[in-house]
Amino acid sequence: MAQITLPKNSKIDKAAGKTYKAPAGAKNVRVFKIYRYDPDTGANPRVDTYEVDMDTCGPMVLDALIKIKNEIDATLTFRRSCREGICGSCAMNIDGTNTLACLKGCGDVKGEVKVYPLPHMPVVKDLVPDLTHFYAQYASIEPWLKTDSPAPSRERLQSEEDRAKLDGLYECILCACCTTSCPSYWWNGDRYLGPAVLMAAYRWLVDSRDEATGERLDQLEDPFKLYRCHTILNCSRTCPKDLNPAKAIAETKKMLVERKG
Ligand code: SF4
Ligand code: SF4
Ligand code: FES
Repeated sequence: MAQITLPKNSKIDKAAGKTYKAPAGAKNVRVFKIYRYDPDTGANPRVDTYEVDMDTCGPMVLDALIKIKNEIDATLTFRRSCREGICGSCAMNIDGTNTLACLKGCGDVKGEVKVYPLPHMPVVKDLVPDLTHFYAQYASIEPWLKTDSPAPSRERLQSEEDRAKLDGLYECILCACCTTSCPSYWWNGDRYLGPAVLMAAYRWLVDSRDEATGERLDQLEDPFKLYRCHTILNCSRTCPKDLNPAKAIAETKKMLVERKG
């Protein structure tokens, strides 16, 4: 059994958490427990407690975070942009599950709302993970159309049937909820590409217009890049867009087997 020892500066300092009380007279109060970490201070992470008056707050966890930042504690740091599940930037761990803060209703959480950054990633500050390595891995699969044949005078056409093969793949918003929920990625993320990037790779493998399928499969045929997936399925369970990266990985393995036969 692997023994894990957290580096000293990553352990939560339970005594250091601050509490921000709800305004007097608030009748509909929810408690948010939020992970705080600022590497510039040299202090260990802590969990702050915010009491939020839900009668003056929108329904989603992201609404509560924005209210906290605007009205209670301007130092709270998180990413967000679209607030409608499209940009992927508000991915975080809420109530123990990786998800998008803008799609997660506060009403879907019982009791205190616990908010942490995506797990097993270095933290830039508070709820902001460092996704540099994740994006580099995405770039490594060359996620664009590759062709050798001369370009047609207009666009490269695709039948409706072939286009349908991209459904359930192209909708991925690269939020990294799946990848950071994958135990194989936690232990081997330096070399294992993880579910989001592998699903993106599969999206190009099955694109009828792409002419680099063999080369793409060669790149993936590696004991670490692909074969660290042990079908644990955390990835598909957690995807806030209801996509199924585990299936895409299984299909990729099948393509590798089939081309050998
Ligand atoms: S199915 Fe594969 S990619 Fe998904 S969580 Fe499991 S090991 Fe990770
Ligand atoms: S597959 Fe789902 S969880 Fe994974 S990056 Fe794409 S949208 Fe996010
Ligand atoms: S803010 Fe864009 S996905 Fe949540």
